[in-house]
Amino acid sequence: MAFVTITVFFLLFLSGLWAEEGVITQDNGKSNITVDVWAELKELRDMVITLKGELTNNNNKIEKLEEEKTGDAIYIKYMYVCVTDINTITVIKALDSRLSASESEVQELKRQLTVNDCEYSINAGTPKVAFSLGLTDNGNIGPFSTAVTLKFSKVFTNFGQAYNPHTGVFTAPVHGVYYFQFRLFCHSVHKYTGVIIYHNSNRVTMTVGYSYDNGYVDVVNGLVLELEKGDVVYLNLPVNYVVYDSVDNHSTFSGFLIFPL
Ligand SMILES: *[C@@H]1O[C@H](CO)[C@@H](O)[C@H](O)[C@H]1NC(C)=O
Ligand SMILES: *[C@@H]1O[C@H](CO)[C@@H](O)[C@H](O)[C@H]1NC(C)=O
Repeated sequence: MAFVTITVFFLLFLSGLWAEEGVITQDNGKSNITVDVWAELKELRDMVITLKGELTNNNNKIEKLEEEKTGDAIYIKYMYVCVTDINTITVIKALDSRLSASESEVQELKRQLTVNDCEYSINAGTPKVAFSLGLTDNGNIGPFSTAVTLKFSKVFTNFGQAYNPHTGVFTAPVHGVYYFQFRLFCHSVHKYTGVIIYHNSNRVTMTVGYSYDNGYVDVVNGLVLELEKGDVVYLNLPVNYVVYDSVDNHSTFSGFLIFPL
């Protein structure tokens, strides 16, 4: 509306100029006034047409802007409805608490995974150590005038090869806690049987049995030992002791790593 008003004033102003010019021309030239007036009038008409076109253009622009504005308003209104709608808020809150619960579960799973990883890596780095061997198929070992290390030569199992059947010595591959157990059989009358367990050069236990008239006795023992890597364990047959074994595997020695340290 303001634009239209300005345009009208502008036209009136131009008309004023023209009128003045027309008068001057009339005073000085006294002719050709008609021609000048028509020329001016034509020019003005063209100007009005141009202005009218511009006005239409501007009106179109204004309409377009108003449409956009309305569109924005609708969009903004829609947003507002979304945020203030009580059901929507309830749904968002429910989703939020479910998300929190899921996050807690993920944290717990991550923790368990870490623990499992830890256990897995411990197991992965742990050598497999477990053995069971029989002593001999050849009957009596002993009696001797010096103590000897018993060589259990019949391998049932020997995971990790920590027990050497040729020397009779077990060597700890890692620092850890180990379990050892033996059963020794004596098949002689009036003889001592048994062994001393050695941990390196230290005695740990002496296990003793005596066979009376019937000529049968056996001894057993088992114990847990903490061994450093490279420590050795072996069974020592004392002087004048006798131990017996046959294809029936009466005398055996077993051991395994319980856990590393
Ligand atoms: C009037 O105008 C015409 C053309 O514009 C011109 O030829 C003529 O000489 C003019 N007359 C006078 C008196 O100026
Ligand atoms: C003794 O062990 C051997 C394997 O070294 C086995 O073949 C044999 O059957 C065992 N004997 C008995 C009576 O278990």
